[in-house]
Amino acid sequence: MSRKPVIAGNWKMFKTVSEALTFVRGIRQATVGLGYAEVVLCPPFTALALMSEGLRGSGISLGAQDVFWEDKGAFTGEISPVMLKDAGCSYVIVGHSERRQYFRETDEKVNRKVKAVLGHGLTPIMCVGETLDEREAGVTEKIVRAQTTAGLAGLAPEQVAGMVIAYEPVWAIGTGRTASDEDAQSVIAYIRDIVREQCGETAAGNVRILYGGSVKPENTAGLMSKRDIDGALVGGASLEVKSFTEIIKRTSETRR
Ligand code: 13P
Repeated sequence: MSRKPVIAGNWKMFKTVSEALTFVRGIRQATVGLGYAEVVLCPPFTALALMSEGLRGSGISLGAQDVFWEDKGAFTGEISPVMLKDAGCSYVIVGHSERRQYFRETDEKVNRKVKAVLGHGLTPIMCVGETLDEREAGVTEKIVRAQTTAGLAGLAPEQVAGMVIAYEPVWAIGTGRTASDEDAQSVIAYIRDIVREQCGETAAGNVRILYGGSVKPENTAGLMSKRDIDGALVGGASLEVKSFTEIIKRTSETRR
């Protein structure tokens, strides 16, 4: 089964519009000829529309970091999938642990968002992952199962086949502490088993499952050499052209 790797940069709440456009100029130059992995940039909402213009013809895709599930209406402060599509997005991160932790996003909300994103022909990058307490209590599989099952509830197998899931252990995010290659592979293989049980073999074989949490150039090749890891969701190291390009390059070399 050959799944094309995805390297997605989650910028979180970093970069003004002009900083974002400077990055776009840099990454366009730096990634010429590195074309194997699929590259996605997820800037803050404010930079989406202009980045979409700046990325035209580059082969780099644009993603948002969150979405609301309604198309439009009196929902002050929210952004709909229709608006994201209009701004040039093709991907949307849903259920990031920071949204679950600080903004009380539940599995049920994540599921509504995933459905809305798919309903508009966009690709969700649905995040799951355990906290440090949960890992230490030995309930990683239980947590990841609950999040995955609820997040994918009610979806058709063909929809799941086209999705991206990101396994991001919360204790590895922004801490410099990466899961070992073996731990990441083992949880990601487990997530693929859950998808197989819930949605069948084709969905499990096609869904791309990324690792996220302190991914850097130095640990990229080790992670990407694992059979079930289909790419990375990168935070801090996606903010600099040099480190992000190096991650793309090493992924392409490892997976080609
Ligand atoms: P870091 O790469 O900064 O650990 O962030 C990971 C992450 O949360 C990506 O969504």
